[in-house]
Amino acid sequence: MPHGQKSHEFYERARRVIPYGVNSNFRYWSDDTTPVVARGQDGYVYDFDGKRYIDYRLGFGPIILGHVDPYVIERVIEAIHHGVTFAATHEYEVRVAEHIIATCPGVEMVRLTNTGTECTMHAIRMARGYTGRDIVLKFEGSYHGFQDYLLWSTANGKVEGMGERHKPVAYKQSLGIPEVLRDLVQLCPWNDVEILGDILKEKGEQIAAIIVEPILGNACALMPQPGYLQFLREQCDHYGIVLIFDEVKTGFRIALGGAREYFGVIPDLSTYAKAMGNGYPIAAIGGHRDIMMTIAPGKVAQGGTYTGNAVGTAAADATLEYMRTHDVFGKINHVGTILMKGIDEILSRHAVPHYVFGTPGMFGICLSDRRPRDFRELSEFGDWELYEEIAMHLVDNGVMPDPDGREPWFLCSDHTEADADETLQKYEDAVKHVLAKR
Ligand SMILES: Cc1ncc(COP(=O)(O)O)c(C=O)c1O
Repeated sequence: MPHGQKSHEFYERARRVIPYGVNSNFRYWSDDTTPVVARGQDGYVYDFDGKRYIDYRLGFGPIILGHVDPYVIERVIEAIHHGVTFAATHEYEVRVAEHIIATCPGVEMVRLTNTGTECTMHAIRMARGYTGRDIVLKFEGSYHGFQDYLLWSTANGKVEGMGERHKPVAYKQSLGIPEVLRDLVQLCPWNDVEILGDILKEKGEQIAAIIVEPILGNACALMPQPGYLQFLREQCDHYGIVLIFDEVKTGFRIALGGAREYFGVIPDLSTYAKAMGNGYPIAAIGGHRDIMMTIAPGKVAQGGTYTGNAVGTAAADATLEYMRTHDVFGKINHVGTILMKGIDEILSRHAVPHYVFGTPGMFGICLSDRRPRDFRELSEFGDWELYEEIAMHLVDNGVMPDPDGREPWFLCSDHTEADADETLQKYEDAVKHVLAKR
């Protein structure tokens, strides 16, 4: 997508004052194509030249009711007229905790933060405080935010740097992460019962937490194999490890009760963010009362000046209330299923080998003739160049998934059947165009 004139000028202005013109490395595509957005509305975003895109990035997932949702806006405006930050508990904080407890099976208590990164940071501190152990096990290809403890072997990592499958090496995802932290993180390939079993036999009693994205929301929405999450639950019970579901992407998106409801497996803690606030900065940690109660004066420290601020909590109160009283998932599942099936059919029709993963609200497409089961296989099997060429053709034509195939397509309840039809028509055009060039 070469920028239109006004978008180009705006991006150049941004680049003069912000590194690469973006406030998150993930938002940079290239000097000519990095998207700039003037505004959003419903399931669309518009650039500075007034060009409309059907938005399947949705801010990397948080927009679940659509951009500029009136129900949420009204509640936020009502809230800010009464003050935004108090250093004291107010009504909206309690309402949000009550919504989460009512919708997410097994959550007994909740603490709020502002971002997913803060949540995962606090959740592993709680697990360490609760168990008295230091090591945290995470899976290759999972992303849990920008904090130093967990920014290892994510989907941006190079498989060559991750060592042998049976002896995974933690791959550092950023300069500036202290080397001493390496000893505190244990990596494991996803969906591999045998390797996890071996690691736990050796180190299970030193591990404080297993943190897992129940669907690999940062690696093509790869699904857990049947029984895998239950296996994690059993292993954690056996070794006294705290099981954390990082539901920053899956929470309030794959189902109202997130992965707990969708898979019927109850972890000790869950981290939520994104869809719970329809794009406003709000996040939460929820779980068993006994672990949550390790957050206490003189025990585990948790807090922050802006935690529970009225803007984020009012947005979450409205978003969760709306989701509890309207058929948001019926709509998302309907349009998302049309898209998933349609893309599958188009790729088959044009003999492009592929697999479609995930759920209608959050799905990924791997162009491969072999079904990947984990991040290593995903990287090796997928034709990511072809994926990007198709995606960029779509973007040129006003349909915006992320060109990085590891990032899922996200749906919101404002996406319509007409959007899906337009997307599928443009998807077929893109496939034809890209294949003809090869
Ligand atoms: C699974 C998961 N955990 C944590 C995070 C970090 O959340 P935030 O960007 O709000 O800090 C993300 C962000 O994409 C995520 O996908």
